[in-house]
Amino acid sequence: MDSHPKNVGILAMEVYFPTTCVQQDALEAFDGVSKGKYTIGLGQDCMTFCTDLEDVISMSLTVLTSLLEKYAIDPKQIGRLEVGSETVIDKSKSIKTWLMSIFEKCGNTEIEGVDSTNACYGGTAALLNCVNWVESSSWDGRYGVVVATDSAVYAEGSARPTGGAAAIAMLIGPNAPMAFESKYRGTHMGHAYDFYKPNLASEYPVVDGKLSQNCYLMALDSCYKRLCNKFEKEEKRQFSLLDADYVAFHSPYNKLVQKSFGRLFFNDFSRHASSVGRDVQEKLEPYASLSEEESYNSRELEKVSQQVAKPMYDSKVQPSTFLPKLVGNMYTASLYAAFASIIHNKHKSLEGQRVLMFSYGSGLASTMFSLKIREGQHPFTIANIAKVMDLQSKLDSRHEFFPEDFVENLKLMETRYGAKDFVSHSQHKFLRPGTFYLTKVDSMYRRFYAQKLINTNDNCEKEKIANGTVHG
Ligand code: ACO
Repeated sequence: MDSHPKNVGILAMEVYFPTTCVQQDALEAFDGVSKGKYTIGLGQDCMTFCTDLEDVISMSLTVLTSLLEKYAIDPKQIGRLEVGSETVIDKSKSIKTWLMSIFEKCGNTEIEGVDSTNACYGGTAALLNCVNWVESSSWDGRYGVVVATDSAVYAEGSARPTGGAAAIAMLIGPNAPMAFESKYRGTHMGHAYDFYKPNLASEYPVVDGKLSQNCYLMALDSCYKRLCNKFEKEEKRQFSLLDADYVAFHSPYNKLVQKSFGRLFFNDFSRHASSVGRDVQEKLEPYASLSEEESYNSRELEKVSQQVAKPMYDSKVQPSTFLPKLVGNMYTASLYAAFASIIHNKHKSLEGQRVLMFSYGSGLASTMFSLKIREGQHPFTIANIAKVMDLQSKLDSRHEFFPEDFVENLKLMETRYGAKDFVSHSQHKFLRPGTFYLTKVDSMYRRFYAQKLINTNDNCEKEKIANGTVHG
């Protein structure tokens, strides 16, 4: 009998984002930019952010604890834990080691994996590591877990509205309802200075916005061509967007997702003109002779390809844009938030469908891969995953801040980044029950976290420190 694990992929998911957020239209007015610049120009509606109570470690503790509890997974069943993040809190101690506090309590210290970092690609690197482990001869039969966690903040200026914050946890194993089609994968890696964080004293990146868009689109083209070639070699037939039911993109802001899908559509036309309708061929024909370089800089081509791709965008991409538009750029978690949005919106009809996933991290690293949605076994069914994630009630329980309070908070966070000897002071009332939060950083830069609990009997709040001790 072949004991090789089959249909390895994502068995379960949980999503966490802070309750604190700011509306993009309010931010437009506050920043004094023209009306519509963030909401239509970037395509964003709202942005979450961390107060000084939350960071990538607390969000990871929250999302992983919730994943294990809600799917009733015994922490002893985890054999590999990988974290993807680009939010550096410590240059040596991984976020993963913080998450070990969950497992040490249960006596499980045999868990491989540490953190992966390369801008927004770290979550995908972590996911591929876990999937490869389950498919390898060193797999010991236990589950893998991936946590993608980031707080995306920018210095004052045009990039600031493209921030966000979230953590996503994924359980990895065989017979998954979201299985990797491992043969259909395209990767493009290279060197670019489009977005990077060379100033270790600041959380803010250095960004060349225009270059980052071009690098993203160029990497997308390359990954898509490679995936198509692999599919065509294997299946002996042409691949086009018609073969994908949904497409999820790394989503820094929605306008780039719209441009990206237009770009894939143009790829289909360039590779096999017959894969798009005759009327569409006529509209794209004038751009067929552009060099690759010219095509990235042609505003006309950008507009026309978005226009002709629009009907397909509405059915294949729009369902993935729900969370990214409302939460903002989640860096490593962004692509998986787009995927979670598809599950949220389409969980009743996903079985048998193919989802193309495009991951991009500046600097640069990128991969396009394919997931096939299958019938899962309880609790790992698509319907249950949608129920567990419960995205709508998480969104409904958010608290909107005025833009001036958002900016005030960013100023506070600037003083907290890399600092020691402080106690967090934002209001706990904004945290949902079950949320972990930072209580203090001591004189040796050691961080302390607690969990907000609700005692349902008398509705009084209790706090439990991460190692399990209860006080006050
Ligand atoms: N109404 C409607 N649209 C408007 C308005 C308005 N009032 N004002 C401007 N716009 C449109 C512009 O026409 C433009 O649209 P287009 O892209 O279709 O041409 C869009 O809004 C953006 O405006 P710009 O002036 O071109 O760009 P801006 O200076 O606002 O910067 C950018 C946008 C580059 C995305 C910036 O926010 C940034 O640097 N973000 C971080 C980098 C990033 O996210 N890169 C993506 C990949 S890397 C990663 O994920 C981190």
